[in-house]
Amino acid sequence: MYPADRPRRLRRNAALRRLVSETEVRPRHLVLPMFVREGASEPVDIPSMPGVPHHTRDSLRRAAVEAVSAGVGGLMLFGVPAERDATGSAAADPDGVLNVALRDVAAEVGDDTVIMADTCLDEFTDHGHCGVLDESGNVDNDRTLRLYGEMALAQAESGAHVLGPSGMMDGQIGAIREALDAAGFHETSLLAYSAKYASAFYGPFRDAVDSQLSGDRKTYQQDPGNAREAGREVALDLAEGADMVMVKPALSYLDLVRRTAETSSVPVAAYQVSGEYSMIEAAVERGWLDRQRTVLETLTSVRRAGADIVLTYWATQAARWLRDEP
Ligand code: PBG
Repeated sequence: MYPADRPRRLRRNAALRRLVSETEVRPRHLVLPMFVREGASEPVDIPSMPGVPHHTRDSLRRAAVEAVSAGVGGLMLFGVPAERDATGSAAADPDGVLNVALRDVAAEVGDDTVIMADTCLDEFTDHGHCGVLDESGNVDNDRTLRLYGEMALAQAESGAHVLGPSGMMDGQIGAIREALDAAGFHETSLLAYSAKYASAFYGPFRDAVDSQLSGDRKTYQQDPGNAREAGREVALDLAEGADMVMVKPALSYLDLVRRTAETSSVPVAAYQVSGEYSMIEAAVERGWLDRQRTVLETLTSVRRAGADIVLTYWATQAARWLRDEP
C-alpha cells in the first residue's frame, strides 16, 4: 500500500490538529510598545501606523488598563518630548515625558503587569542619534554610556520594572547595571536589545517619535547580512548582566531568533517592529490580506523560531483574539 506514511492523518479535524499543535501564542507572551507625546491634548494615530496612537497622559493610562485586562504580558513605553537638545537631557529629567508617563502607568497598573522603558537617547536628541556626538559628529560611545546610566536611574525611580537599552553602544548593559546597582536598584531588570540591525523596517517608528535623524545608524546598529556578530553581541550582553536578550526586527531575522534561543541562558524576546506592522496593515486596508490570520501567523512564527516574548503593536488586539482560544 502506497503511501505508507500519511502525515495528513493528524490534520483531519480540528480536535486532532489542536492535540498535536507544537507552538502556542498566549496573551502573556506579548508586550505592547506605546508612545506618549508631551503636551498632546488628544490621542492621534501615527500616520504611517494606523491604529497606533500618540497618546496623551490620560489615553496612555486607559490603553494600559485595556492591554492589561486583555492579558498582555507587559508594556514598553516610548516618549516623544516637546523639546530636544544635543544631549537629550529630558531623558534623565524626572519631569521628562517618558518618566512622567512611567509614573502614571506604574500608579495605574504597576502591580498587574511588567512596565518597561526604552532606554535610549534618540527620541530626546535634536540630531536624532542614539547617543551624544563628539566634535567631529561621531557618536561618542563612552560619554553616551554615562548618560544612559542617568537615564536608567530616572526610569527605575519612576517605576519601570524592566529597562530596554536599545542604543547599541558597546558596554551599555554593564554601564547601566553598574549605575542601577550603585543606587540600590538591584531588582530592576535589563532587557538588552542585543542583536539590533540597521533596518529599513524602523521607518514608521521614526515618524512615531518625530525622529530628527538625517543619515543612518550604521556605526552602531548591525549590518543585516551579519549573523555571527549577533552571537557576539548576545554573549557580551549576557556577560555584562542582561536579564533577557532581544533580536530586532523579528520576521526578517527569524534565523537569529532561533540561534539566540538555542544559545541564550536567559529568556529571548523578538521585536516585531513598526515596518512589520505597517506593511501588513497597508495590505489589510487594501483587502489583500486578512488581518487576524496574518497577524496570528506572524506571531506564531516568531514563537516557533524560539522567542519567549514578542513585542508587537498588535498586542492588545491579538490578546483579545487569543483569549477566547482553548
Ligand atoms: C531606538 C529604537 C528604535 C526602535 C525601538 N527603539 C528605532 C531605531 O533604532 O531607529 C524601533 C521600533 C520600531 O520600529 O517599531 N530608541
